[in-house]
Amino acid sequence: MTKKFVIFGNPVAHSKSPQMQNAGLKYINFDGVYEKHHLEDGNTIKEVFLQNGYSGANITVPHKEFAFANADIVKGIAKEIEAVNTYVIEEGKVVAYNTDAPGFLKAIESFGKVQNVLLLGAGGTAKAISLALKEKNIKVTVLNRSEGKLDFFKNHNITSYSWENFKPEIYDLVVNSTSAGLKDDYLPAPKEIIEPILKNASFTFDCIYGKVTPFLALASKNNCQIKDGEDMLLYQGVLAFELFTNTKADKMVVEAMRKGLKQG
Ligand SMILES: NC(=O)c1ccc[n+]([C@@H]2O[C@H](COP(=O)([O-])OP(=O)(O)OC[C@H]3O[C@@H](n4cnc5c(N)ncnc54)[C@H](OP(=O)(O)O)[C@@H]3O)[C@@H](O)[C@H]2O)c1
Repeated sequence: MTKKFVIFGNPVAHSKSPQMQNAGLKYINFDGVYEKHHLEDGNTIKEVFLQNGYSGANITVPHKEFAFANADIVKGIAKEIEAVNTYVIEEGKVVAYNTDAPGFLKAIESFGKVQNVLLLGAGGTAKAISLALKEKNIKVTVLNRSEGKLDFFKNHNITSYSWENFKPEIYDLVVNSTSAGLKDDYLPAPKEIIEPILKNASFTFDCIYGKVTPFLALASKNNCQIKDGEDMLLYQGVLAFELFTNTKADKMVVEAMRKGLKQG
């Protein structure tokens, strides 16, 4: 029987996950189809997942915390992050994973060894990235526009600052996990704070994909190697695909999924 997979979000119309996942399913001749589902109420996520007979799901904004809270079992680093982006059925139970965190680690492998990271932003993505780095024993410092969201990081013994009280060090990698630059021309922190840091950094990564954001443009001007969020999106998808299909995605599958991602 054809297996059904889905991405839940609100909004979800813009999501490129179906074209990426369907390209992978087609490449391995898997009898499955991956669709979009606009979900209004995150509290209904498990019910809707089961009622529709889905075998696997991805979860995007703003439902990752609801998906965490509603799962039967949460596995891996997701337990600490308290947000999940993947559901699968295992032995009749709804099991939840976070593949954003390992997807980010895979995406920054191309930089080689990094030891000290400055992470801009303190939202859901920053939680996943900071714990992924910490688990790998990579030093991470969080810098956010406002103080409000810093408690999570303090509770996990991650040094965190707002713009007002920031005490900079030398970092080899600077990551933008804010939404500054997504639909506007803002830098993720004031230029007076960021530029001196970029002058001493080697690598920069922006979670936003498909464009050179003002952050990456400034980094490039200051001779940093730059990378956008495409690989992060790709690898979180590949890791979810492996869970959905119970297969190991080789390089050819990954490239088929990348091609799917870049369609249209
Ligand atoms: N490539 C991928 O696979 C991938 C995966 C996940 C997310 N993303 C991208 O990552 C970004 C963050 O997502 P999220 O889910 O973590 O969002 P979120 O939970 O809404 O958090 C947004 C963060 O951005 C900060 N921020 C927003 N506008 C800002 C501005 N103009 N200047 C400085 N800081 C600003 C917020 O600071 P305050 O606390 O002060 O409000 C907050 O820390 C989005 O652009 C998203 O598209 C990419």
